[in-house]
Parts: sequence; C-alpha cells; structure tokens
Amino acid sequence: MGSLKKVSVFGLGKLGACMAATFAQRGFTVLGVDINAEAVRKINAGIPPVDEPLLPETMANAGKRFRATTDFNEAVATEASFFIVPSPSLPDGSFSNEFLMRALAPIAQAVRKAKKKNHIFVISSTTTPGACRKIIIPLLEKEIGGKCGRAFSFCYNPEFIALGNVVRGLLSPDMVLIGESDKRAGDLLEGFYQKFNLNQPKIARMSVTSAELTKISVNSYITAKISFTNQLRMIAEQFADTDIHAILDAIGADSRIGHKYLRAGLSYGGPCFPRDNRLVSYAAKQVGLSAPLAEATDRVNEMAKDQLAQQALACVQPGDTVAVLGMSYRTDTYIVEESAGLHIAQSLKRSGCRVVVHDYAANTKNSPALLEFETLSDPAQLKKEKRVKAVLICNPWPSYRKVKFPKGAKVFDPWGVLA
Ligand SMILES: NC(=O)c1ccc[n+]([C@@H]2O[C@H](COP(=O)([O-])OP(=O)(O)OC[C@H]3O[C@@H](n4cnc5c(N)ncnc54)[C@H](O)[C@@H]3O)[C@@H](O)[C@H]2O)c1
Repeated sequence: MGSLKKVSVFGLGKLGACMAATFAQRGFTVLGVDINAEAVRKINAGIPPVDEPLLPETMANAGKRFRATTDFNEAVATEASFFIVPSPSLPDGSFSNEFLMRALAPIAQAVRKAKKKNHIFVISSTTTPGACRKIIIPLLEKEIGGKCGRAFSFCYNPEFIALGNVVRGLLSPDMVLIGESDKRAGDLLEGFYQKFNLNQPKIARMSVTSAELTKISVNSYITAKISFTNQLRMIAEQFADTDIHAILDAIGADSRIGHKYLRAGLSYGGPCFPRDNRLVSYAAKQVGLSAPLAEATDRVNEMAKDQLAQQALACVQPGDTVAVLGMSYRTDTYIVEESAGLHIAQSLKRSGCRVVVHDYAANTKNSPALLEFETLSDPAQLKKEKRVKAVLICNPWPSYRKVKFPKGAKVFDPWGVLA
C-alpha cells in the first residue's frame, strides 16, 4: 500500500501555512498552493505569510522540503492534497462551500487530464454536515469522471487548533479526526499522522458525515462549558459573599467535569467557537429538529458581553471615558473576530461613551476593526487620560496585572487577572 511522502496544501493562510510548514518540518515533501501570489512569494523567500508563534522556526527547519506555487497543476504530482481555504458562515448559520469548490475544481480537472488514479482529496476546512457527501464529492466525481473510492479518494480531516498555538496544536493533538470514503485512504492518512505527530493521539476514523458532525460537536461542547461558567459567574456575582473562583475550583475537582475551560471569564469568540456552535443548530434544523442546548450556549455568550457593557454604562455619564483592555479573542493572538472586547467597545461607543482600547497583539494594522477607536500603545498611558470612569479587562493578558489604573475608575475584571 505504501505511505504518503509528498503532499500539497491548498490555502496558505493562518492555518494552512502552519500545516504545510509543520508537515515539511516532520519530513514530508510539501507543495503549498495559494491564489495569493504574495503569500507564495514570501514562503519561497523563507518569510512566514502570517503572524503565528513558532511558524518562522518551523519554516526554517522545513528548509527545501517546503515550497509554494500559484500553479495548482503542480499538485497532481503529489499523493494527497489538503484543502484549508475559507468556508465563511452564511446568514442562515451554514458554511459556504464556494472557496472549496473554486479550489477543488481545477485540480480535479488536472487529475483527470493526467489520467491519474487514486489522488486523495483531504478537506480540512470546516464544512456544514452533509456538504461533503451532497456537494463536494459529487463535484469531484463530475470533474474527474469517476466514482469516489475508486477513481479517487476523499477524507474529511479538520484540525482542532487555537490561533496563537497552531504549531504545537498540530504536532501534539488529543485526537486526529479522519472521515474516509474508503479504507485505503483512511489507512494512508492514519499512517501519515503516525509519522507526523509528536505524541500518540487517538486516531478517530469514521464516515465523512460522522466526522463533519464530530468536528462541530467538539467545539459546541466546549462552548457549552464556557457558557455554563459564565452563567454561574453572573449568578454568583449577585450574592454578597461568593467567590466564583473557589466555586469553579471545587466543581472542576469532580473528575466527571474536570478543570479545563472551567475558568471564570467572559465570552468565547474567534473564528471557530461561535460559528461552529451555531452550525450545530443549523445541522439540527436541516433534519427537522432543533438544538436548544447549542442555542442557549450562544445566548449566554451574548448575555455575558451585554451584561458587562451594561455594568460599565451604569457608572459613566455621557462623554466619560471607558477603557477596554484586551481586544483579541484570546491571549497570544491578534485576531479580534467575535471577541468580547470588540463587541463591548462597540456597544459602549454606540451608547455615547468615549472608548479607548488596548491590546498586546491586536493593533490597527493587523486588525482594522480597531480603527474606529482611540488606541493606547501602552496601558500605562491610561494614567494620563482624563475622566476615565471604567476600565474593563476583556481578555486576560497577564501583564494587565502590573497596570496602574486611574484613581476613581471602576475596574471590571471578569477573568480575575488582578486577583
Ligand atoms: N483559524 C482558525 O482558528 C481555524 C481553526 C480550525 C479550523 N479553521 C478552518 O480553516 C479554514 C481556513 O481558515 P484560516 O483561518 O486558515 O483562513 P485564512 O483566511 O487565514 O486563509 C485561507 C487561505 O486560503 C487561500 N485561498 C482562497 N481561495 C483559494 C483557492 N481557490 N486556492 C488556493 N488557496 C486559496 C487564501 O488566499 C488564504 O491564504 C476555515 O474553514 C476555518 O473554518 C480555522
């Protein structure tokens, strides 16, 4: 049966560039493919196309095993192609297949032209449950002119990483998820990960649609746990003599629950958690059901942000300044997509406050959404600001512990950074 040695990665963005570089670092020959000529140029010059910890070192270790191109035809010479292009959310909660279809069609046509058998198409982008079977595999069958499992193989193999920890997350995951069209493809991909991973993760193999459901269910479960802690925090705050940290520490000691993601804090955000959880509701609707747990998780998440904004508003007058510290959705990344800080800063600004913001990684250059605010390059500048009536720590960067806050400002610290 052999083993995979040469692979291509389509989409060299925040996740794809890290996947391609780590695959190459671990000894595979990797061809990166992207329509973005600048990303391709950078990779071939040894420059990371995205900002992610450990990516520069990983690319340096990969050396000549990793190169990139805009010519998808070159990928026919590789044994398997991973696709990690965007799959943006649509207004109904489902994920768009547009980018995937545009990336898949030309390489499928090139495979057909070359009369190549057994090319493995691996989708790593998150897809709507059922989309691979109903839309993507039929597209490949049409373009290649043969049946999936015979003319070519198909796997759904999403990654469970968090931005800011992508390289480590890829190398040592808890679980590798493989949805497979046929045993041969599953065996080859399993063999690939046995060589690639630094640890020995569980390799979960199943049907393609089972894997699509598994991917979003992992994130839906984690978000439910986060919303549970936030709901409890909001309740506990209303009692005079409670300590949410002590409560959660005790609850997490129960081995059926565990401490992970049981830290008092604020809403979850970013490019995966919120939309993957909403996709569970969409998947339920698709089959005539509802998903009240997923919906409640989403509602509590919004409530946690809105409640904090309301608490801040209660201690300011029109024209007062509010400082929102921590704009990225988690520490170690600059991404502000669906972050609590961004949502709250926007809401306070709409309510007439003067809002100044700070983050240790997000800035107006890498996160243009911050352009609507006055930004502080250093939180120490807060001391010079006049009429700062409220300070909200929305993301637990540990350095906020050292900041001297203006006298008279009410500090909101849902994460307990200052505790
Ligand atoms: N970012 C995350 O935290 C994360 C985590 C898990 C899963 N995902 C999933 O990974 C996928 C990609 O996310 P990302 O954050 O890396 O996106 P991204 O926007 O950072 O990168 C996508 C890349 O795909 C390229 N691309 C677009 N069309 C292409 C085509 N036709 N051919 C080749 N390349 C093409 C773009 O130029 C870009 O470089 C999404 O489906 C997302 O849901 C992301």
